[in-house]
Amino acid sequence: MARTLTEVLIFLLLSFILLPITLATARPNTFSRNLSPKKLGLKREKLSHLHFYFHDTVSGKNPTAVPVAQAATTNKSSTSFGQVVMIDDPLTVKPEVSSKQVGRAQGIYASASQSEVSFLMVLNLFFTEGKYNGSTLSILGRNSIFSGIREMPIVGGSGLFRFARGYTQAKTYTVNLKTNDAVVEYNVYVFHY
Ligand SMILES: *[C@@H]1O[C@H](CO)[C@@H](O)[C@H](O)[C@H]1NC(C)=O
Ligand SMILES: *[C@@H]1O[C@H](CO)[C@@H](O)[C@H](O)[C@H]1NC(C)=O
Repeated sequence: MARTLTEVLIFLLLSFILLPITLATARPNTFSRNLSPKKLGLKREKLSHLHFYFHDTVSGKNPTAVPVAQAATTNKSSTSFGQVVMIDDPLTVKPEVSSKQVGRAQGIYASASQSEVSFLMVLNLFFTEGKYNGSTLSILGRNSIFSGIREMPIVGGSGLFRFARGYTQAKTYTVNLKTNDAVVEYNVYVFHY
């Protein structure tokens, strides 16, 4: 009993000595810390303009845009409301699909309006050329496809586009109203490091 009491006293004594040391060294939030941008290799923020053509091919043997879901209603909506399309569309420097490819637009567009044909766009622009090879930009926006110029936010990026933010303007270059195949001109304005 006496021995146990001694042990308890020693323990308490040690605790009082060690406690302030522990408090001084432990961080209140061990999962976060402040960091200087330089430590991540971030220098001056730049503004870049990218220009390319987006080829959305729905028809033919090798479509790059494939419907994957639609609304389960008997009456077909005039705006295809509820339809979801998965794409892997080539991005080229000129309007011709045979011109030099600089990347792909990979993701989903979904008909999100009951009053006009307007898509929710959730895409990654995956670049495969030059210094941007392997880098991506993410688009999350609204695309009312029969409007002249549609603006969509660039919400982020990877690789050389880390910390990206900006917008893109999309303008239909050609559209075949029978097949719905379209070529769309994209102008992207983006801040990144
Ligand atoms: C479906 O379409 C028909 C004909 O246009 C219309 O009379 C009917 O009310 C519609 N049904 C629904 C559930 O919208
Ligand atoms: C882009 O990067 C990939 C993977 O590192 C490589 O295989 C490919 O050759 C590169 N393309 C160009 C055009 O540099």
